[in-house]
Amino acid sequence: MIIINKVSELETYVARERNNGRSIGLVPTMGALHAGHLSLVERAVKENDDVIVSVFVNPTQFNNPDDLATYPRTEEEDCRLLAKGGVSVAFVPDVNEMYPKGAVHEKDFELGTAAEVMEGKFRPGHFQGVAQIVSRLFELCRPNRAYFGEKDFQQIAVIKNMVESEGIDVDIIPCPIKRADDGLALSSRNALLTPEQRAVAPAIYKALKEGVEYSKSHTVKETHDMIVNAVNANAGLETEYLEIVDARTLLPVENWEESPEIQGCITVYCGKVRLIDNIKFR
Ligand code: PAF
Repeated sequence: MIIINKVSELETYVARERNNGRSIGLVPTMGALHAGHLSLVERAVKENDDVIVSVFVNPTQFNNPDDLATYPRTEEEDCRLLAKGGVSVAFVPDVNEMYPKGAVHEKDFELGTAAEVMEGKFRPGHFQGVAQIVSRLFELCRPNRAYFGEKDFQQIAVIKNMVESEGIDVDIIPCPIKRADDGLALSSRNALLTPEQRAVAPAIYKALKEGVEYSKSHTVKETHDMIVNAVNANAGLETEYLEIVDARTLLPVENWEESPEIQGCITVYCGKVRLIDNIKFR
């Protein structure tokens, strides 16, 4: 595996591989890699000739400066794991390299209504920042396929909209959520939890799973309230939102017959750490 820090070096690498007819898989990450990321990498390695993994904590997608400052960074360990996973290139740029004109929003991407709800409402500007960095990575890496974890369910829908509105030729491959044995969705932010918080956090997925059972004999509203109450009953957990939505539009549903694909998306504060998760209802 080679570690590339410079955009120009990455462009040379990509041009050579593409000219040689080799397919490229891209796994965009913000580092602090865990088994969830590694499952994306494993799939990308199987399906492409070359795999580029970007490790870059993107400042333009953070609407909260504290969140950016405390985001876990484990670059050396990340590169070690990627080399072991059969990756061709770890692309690890610094902020100046990715944003030579400064880390600011430069244009408004058309991201559709999927970007306005849930995370879009609670984290203004977040998806514009995600679109900015992901479109730049697509431009530099020219991937045939790009891999994203379904823990960020809404992010995948927004990136698909961005790809369509920008006319980018890439297959977006969603990959299933990886969970710890106790059910907690793997996330880089889990590293910020104290042992007490880590012990209570699996209650989020437990409530979601119970909610799916409960939904078989209760309305959407009753199911929503049951899950929120079950999560908030745990000292240290506070639900920011739970939305039960049409999985294709991400707009809220009022009854179970409204769509054949229904997803529940939740955000919970565990102390100051913001955790997200989701589950399929229908
Ligand atoms: O999902 C993430 O880790 C980030 O949002 C991404 C896609 C790497 C863009 O910075």
